[in-house]
Amino acid sequence: MVDAYGRKITYLRLSVTELCNLRCRYCMPGDGLCKKRHEDMLTREEMLSAVKAAAELGITKLRITGGEPLVKGDVLAICRGAAQTEGIEEVCITTNGTLLPELAKPLREAGVSRVNISLDTLNAEKYAYITRRGSLDQALRGIDAALNAGFDRVKINTVLIGGFNDGEIPALAELTRKYPVDLRFIELMPMVDSREFGPEAFIPCSVVREKLPELAAEPQDNGVARLYRLPGAQGRIGLISPVSSHFCGTCNRIRLTADGKIKPCLHSAQEFPIKGLDYRGVLEQMRAAILAKPACHGELSARRHSCAGRSMNQIGG
Ligand code: 5AD
Ligand code: SF4
Repeated sequence: MVDAYGRKITYLRLSVTELCNLRCRYCMPGDGLCKKRHEDMLTREEMLSAVKAAAELGITKLRITGGEPLVKGDVLAICRGAAQTEGIEEVCITTNGTLLPELAKPLREAGVSRVNISLDTLNAEKYAYITRRGSLDQALRGIDAALNAGFDRVKINTVLIGGFNDGEIPALAELTRKYPVDLRFIELMPMVDSREFGPEAFIPCSVVREKLPELAAEPQDNGVARLYRLPGAQGRIGLISPVSSHFCGTCNRIRLTADGKIKPCLHSAQEFPIKGLDYRGVLEQMRAAILAKPACHGELSARRHSCAGRSMNQIGG
């Protein structure tokens, strides 16, 4: 379906849970969240019915997110159902990778074609600090498991944080030489839970180009990352700049939260509830959400925080 500004909406990000086994400082409060009531969250049937409605309106690509989608007990059944939905051509997943050693193969078998894994540092102490509880070793084993399970093109997502990992840009970029992975640097977005970061933490992706002058431009695909490659590398480097240069003009996505709210824009508080609606009702809400998709979100900066009204784990990263 085409929205009010001529953008063809083909991509749904489905958050299957708000829960996570980590507590990344830019995403979630340290003491977790007050868990919502089970009956307020979408059931698997409701999620799959929403995927069907989305496909009917022209969505072809689905990304399963969270929270951490792999902590959800029936994530494999959700992925399988989504992959079998008529019109859905591609099911991808975004994960912190820590549960991939057990789940990479079953996900592949369930019809997931690609995985994105979050990794902000290669230093074990820093990893434990930024995630407040994670183990670097486990995340790295997750990346190995994804590569071994035969996913198309494994991507690593690194949130760029000034004073935390900007010194590691070359080491992180080296991963694309060592492994057949794409590594994407993402500008830290000023969300509710990124308040503990001062202005110095918000650095633009242009810093990556300064630190890696040998980066050569690659042909662009239709994603949000600007693509480069290190000489001789197996994978590419992507720069994603939601803060310094937003991509609203070509935005093709909508989101569905685990508690059943369609969000036409990540940074807007506007939500279209679908919990408890029948198929026709869901279809109508989805249509309304696409038509209400704003032309652009307001400016974001260290001083101007997102208007999302939720933390990232409650939206879907
Ligand atoms: N800014 C940028 N990226 C974020 N993510 C979560 N919160 C933020 C933020 N404030 C990213 C994670 C992960 C995905 C789930 O969302 O790094 O890659
Ligand atoms: Fe969990 Fe991902 Fe949020 Fe970290 S960024 S707390 S891994 S959902």
